[in-house]
Amino acid sequence: MTNATRIDGKAKAAELSAVISAETEKLLQEHNLKPGLAVVIVGEDPASQVYVRNKKRMAEACGFHSEQHTLAGNANQDEVLKLIADLNDDTAIHGILVQLPLPGHLDEHAITQSILPSKDVDGFHYINIGKLTAGDTADAFVPCTPAGCMLMIEDHLGSDLSGKNAVVIGRSNIVGKPMASLLLAANATVTITHSRTNDLPGVVAAADIVVAAVGRPNMVKGNWIKPGAVVIDVGINRIDVEVDGETKSKLTGDVDYDAVSKIAAAVTPVPGGVGPMTIIMLMSNTLRSAKLSLATGVSIGSS
Ligand code: GUN
Repeated sequence: MTNATRIDGKAKAAELSAVISAETEKLLQEHNLKPGLAVVIVGEDPASQVYVRNKKRMAEACGFHSEQHTLAGNANQDEVLKLIADLNDDTAIHGILVQLPLPGHLDEHAITQSILPSKDVDGFHYINIGKLTAGDTADAFVPCTPAGCMLMIEDHLGSDLSGKNAVVIGRSNIVGKPMASLLLAANATVTITHSRTNDLPGVVAAADIVVAAVGRPNMVKGNWIKPGAVVIDVGINRIDVEVDGETKSKLTGDVDYDAVSKIAAAVTPVPGGVGPMTIIMLMSNTLRSAKLSLATGVSIGSS
């Protein structure tokens, strides 16, 4: 059996970054407008700090105005809501992202819903979820991870997925559900599976497209996969491995990459697959928001 194509998310993200940087420069030259991204982080979760740092670096690399707002882990609900209200009113800011998860004492739902839909570059506001679910993908801000996955799927299978079976493993609001909406909008026949699904390997066996987003290291095995399937691994799991008698920490996905790549047509690696695409889609959404603010004076969803 031949080895699958390794879908290089890092290289694709670099290509997109060059396009976004060029468009940003044009926006600045022609309209004196710089896309502005504000990232809010509450507390000191180490993984979140890494993600936020990477987002800030990429925003700067694209030529954006970039702000990071770090609140103490014991910040209260009103402080977070006040910060978001200020960012909603700030004309230099076109995209607001509150890094999740938030500390348990905060109401995550109320916080994400307080971001103006027109600045909701994460696509978590109900207005944007509603547009996406209604199939109005062109007008919604689509959550960044599924948007990035979709671009990689389209690269391999084209934009019309008629007749293809897609299986999404995981039903989160951030990945699983919006991923299913995007696949459905592209005419795939979609199954969402989760921890209560019977015979997951049997369901996955029928899939031409598999998107794994569960957070369980190496869960998806080679013998689950239909020969020739496209497999997208959203998992980012830190595991301990023994190297020369020493314990080292390593990132691994939800997919058993080596085994799956013997059967599938194409697989994303971890790291270097979905992760870089997620960040670049955030930049793409922020650039789009800036352009929309120019076109309409008010941005989408805020009327
Ligand atoms: N935490 C993990 N993924 C995400 C994401 O896409 N957006 C935000 N805001 N937080 C996250």
